[in-house]
Amino acid sequence: MGSASAASLPTSAGAGENLVLILDFGSQYTHLITRRVRQLGVLSLCVSGTAPLSSLAGLRPRAVVLSGGPHSVHAPGAPTFPEGFLEFAADAGAHVLGVCYGMQLLVQSLGGAVESGERQEYGDMEVEVTAPSSALYGEVGKRQTVWMSHGDEVVRLPEGFEVVARSVQGAIAAIEHRDKRYYGLQYHPEVTHSPQGMETLRRFLFDVCGIKADWKMQDVLDEEIKTIRSMVGPDEHVICALSGGVDSTVAATLVHNAIGDRLHCVFVDNGLLRYKEQERVMSTFDSDLHLPVTCIDASEQFLSKLKGVKDPEMKRKIIGREFIAVFDDFAHMLEKKLGKRPEYLVQGTLYPDVIESCPPPGSGRTHSHTIKSHHNVGGLPKDMKLKLIEPLKLLFKDEVRKLGSILNVPESFLKRHPFPGPGLAVRVLGDVTEGNALEVLRQVDEIFVQAIKDAGLYDKIWQAFAVFLPVQTVGVQGDQRTHSNAVTLRAITSEDGMTADWYYFERQFLVDVVKKICNNVRGVNRVCQDITSKPPATVEWE
Ligand code: XMP
Repeated sequence: MGSASAASLPTSAGAGENLVLILDFGSQYTHLITRRVRQLGVLSLCVSGTAPLSSLAGLRPRAVVLSGGPHSVHAPGAPTFPEGFLEFAADAGAHVLGVCYGMQLLVQSLGGAVESGERQEYGDMEVEVTAPSSALYGEVGKRQTVWMSHGDEVVRLPEGFEVVARSVQGAIAAIEHRDKRYYGLQYHPEVTHSPQGMETLRRFLFDVCGIKADWKMQDVLDEEIKTIRSMVGPDEHVICALSGGVDSTVAATLVHNAIGDRLHCVFVDNGLLRYKEQERVMSTFDSDLHLPVTCIDASEQFLSKLKGVKDPEMKRKIIGREFIAVFDDFAHMLEKKLGKRPEYLVQGTLYPDVIESCPPPGSGRTHSHTIKSHHNVGGLPKDMKLKLIEPLKLLFKDEVRKLGSILNVPESFLKRHPFPGPGLAVRVLGDVTEGNALEVLRQVDEIFVQAIKDAGLYDKIWQAFAVFLPVQTVGVQGDQRTHSNAVTLRAITSEDGMTADWYYFERQFLVDVVKKICNNVRGVNRVCQDITSKPPATVEWE
C-alpha cells in the first residue's frame, strides 16, 4: 500500500516558524513534554533521539528539548543524539533544553562530568533558584517543589555554563549557557508533580526562545483541508471504513469537508455491536454530520464463521478476515458504480501510533517504530494499492476531540468510551453464537452504561461495559429455582488504556443496577463486578 500523508511535517500550520522538536531518549514522560508544548499553543514534534540527522533535514526548530530516559550516560550503548546535531541546532538558531537524562547528555558531550550520584534523588524535591540573572526563573531565592528521578548527577559543568538552581540536598537542578543557547533541568517540568514546571516551560519557550504561540486547531484544520484538496485530483474518489469511534469519524468528517461526496464511507454491522449501535451511529452520521455512509449488514456472514469457535485469538483472526472481505466487496461495488477505482483510503491514525520512540533499554534495538498491532482489526488487502490519507497523524487524542468539536461532531459522540474492533466477541467468553448470549449481553450492557450516564458518571470513567460469562449458576427468582447465566460489570479509569484502575461505585448505585439487570434481563441470575486493575488483568476479558 502506498502512503501519501496529508499531514506532511514541515508544512503543517506553524511548523516552519515556531517549531519545537522533542528528541526522545526513552523517558515515559517524553510524550507529555510534546503535549505540554502544544498546550501552550506551539507545535511540537517528537522524534527518536538517535534518528539520523538526515531525518531532520528541512526542519528549522526554534527550540529542541532533549528528553529524559532510563539510562545512565555511562552505560554501554546509552542513546545519544547523532553527530553534528548541536551544529544543526546552532545553524537553525535553536535553543536546546536538556531534561534529566537530556541535561546529562548535553553536559557530557560538551566536556563536563556526570557521575553515578551518591545523591540519588527520586520523587518530590525542593529546589532553590541561586542565580540572580537566570533566564529560566527570573527571581533569585525562589523555591519550588519539583519531581526528580535521577541516579546520575552532573558534577562538573562544561565551560561557560552557570548553575541557576540547586536542590535542597545541594545537587545541580538547573543550568544555563545563554550565549550558546544551552539550558538544562535535572528534574521533570512536564509532570504535574512539578506544579511550576509549566511556568518554566512557558518562560523557556516565549521569553528565552522568543517563540510565538501560533498553533491553533482551526489552522490545523484549514491546512489539512488544503493539503487533501491538492492531493486528491478532481475526479478521484476516496473510501473510509467507519467504526463508530471518535478517530475514524473525525477523520472522515474532515475529508468530507475537503472533497464532499467523493468520499465514500462504509459502516459494517458485524453482528457484534452494542445495543442499537447501528441505528445510533448511522443517525449521527446522517443527521449531524451529513456523511455519505453505506451500512452493510454482514452479521450473518461474521456469526456463521464464528460458530463453535472458542479460542480468543482465532475469533479475532476470523473477524479481521471477514472485515477485509466485506471491505473488498465494498470497493468493487464502488468501482462498478463509479466506473473507476477509488484511489485513496482515509485512516484515523493518531500521533502516538506513528511516533518513533526509543526502545526500552536492553531491547537490543536502537530505535523502534511504535505501532498498535494486536488492536488493529485485520488490516487491508495488499493488492488494493490504496494511497493513505491520515489527517490526524500529528494529533493526540485530546486534540482530535478539539478538532471534532470545530467540525461540529456532537460532544456526546466525542466523549464516547472506546470500544474494541472485535466488538462483543471479546466480551462473550467462548463461542459467541451459543444460546442468546449476545442479546443478553447487549441488554445488560445497556442497563449498566445508561445507569452510569444517569448518575452523571460517564465522563469520569474511561470505559464501562458488561461481560457475559458462559457459566450457569443456581438462583431463586420468584418461587422458582433458576439455572441462569452470570455476567460481570467492569468500569475502569485510565489515561490511555495501557494501565487502568477499577472504578469505585457507591453501594446504592450497584444495588440499583443489579436489581434492574436481574428484573429485566431474562437469563441472568447473578451479577459480579470485576475489581482487578491492569496489570495484572487486561481491560477486556479476552
Ligand atoms: P486491553 O484488553 O488490551 O485493552 O487491556 C486496552 C484497550 O484496547 C481496547 N482493545 C481493543 N481494541 N481491537 C481494538 O480495536 C482489539 O482487539 C482490542 N482489544 C482491546 C480495549 O477496549 C481497551 O480500550
